[in-house]
Amino acid sequence: MTKLSPSILAADFTILGRQLKELEKSGVPYLHIDVMDGIFVPSISFGMPVIRSIRRVTKKILDVHLMIMDPERYIPAFRDCGADIITFHLEAADTPTSLIDMIHYMGIRAGITVRPETPIELLYPYLAEVEMVLVMSVSPGFGGQEFIPGSLERIAKMRKYIDEHGLKTDIQVDGGIYHDNVRDVIAAGANVIVAGSAVFNGDIKDNVRRFNEIMAHV
Ligand code: DX5
Ligand code: ZN
Repeated sequence: MTKLSPSILAADFTILGRQLKELEKSGVPYLHIDVMDGIFVPSISFGMPVIRSIRRVTKKILDVHLMIMDPERYIPAFRDCGADIITFHLEAADTPTSLIDMIHYMGIRAGITVRPETPIELLYPYLAEVEMVLVMSVSPGFGGQEFIPGSLERIAKMRKYIDEHGLKTDIQVDGGIYHDNVRDVIAAGANVIVAGSAVFNGDIKDNVRRFNEIMAHV
């Protein structure tokens, strides 16, 4: 079953609680939380205090996407503030295997990703160790960008590898996903869909309902 993970980067932070309540009612399983440090990516988003506040008001799976250098320094802190899944960038990690071990040792799920310009094959050695692999469909750093068309091929490649090797790894796709291209993303092989602008711009409940409808029919 395909799952939706709304990215709160596109939320209105003055009314975040209200918007989370709407998501609560609409029954999405995940919340995608983009952490940016201004070094690995040009922008700075938010960190532990925000995640801690969100944790207090929801039982949803908090899917934390770390766009930061030296992620190993922060794993315990992100677990403590409520992360259920931590996804890190291969480009930012010195020792990916020990980082995955550390995340698991903390009792949570691990995800791994690369920037769109990094060969996707570099992730293959880690796929048996992680619960989720993230295929970025925009350059990490900002919401509201356009879906990079070549991403469909990367998703399909990843799906082929995972299936051929009998793995159960979830394939998440993140960036530029809207109601009009989500079908293609799922058909290419993704099963966890991140959407920021397409969920938070306009009527949240209606946006989620439309995603659910499409996702149920692909
Ligand atoms: C980009 C982030 C995405 C972003 C997606 O660096 O990783 O999660 O918030 O936003 P949209 O859906 O607006 O492209
Ligand atoms: Zn993200």
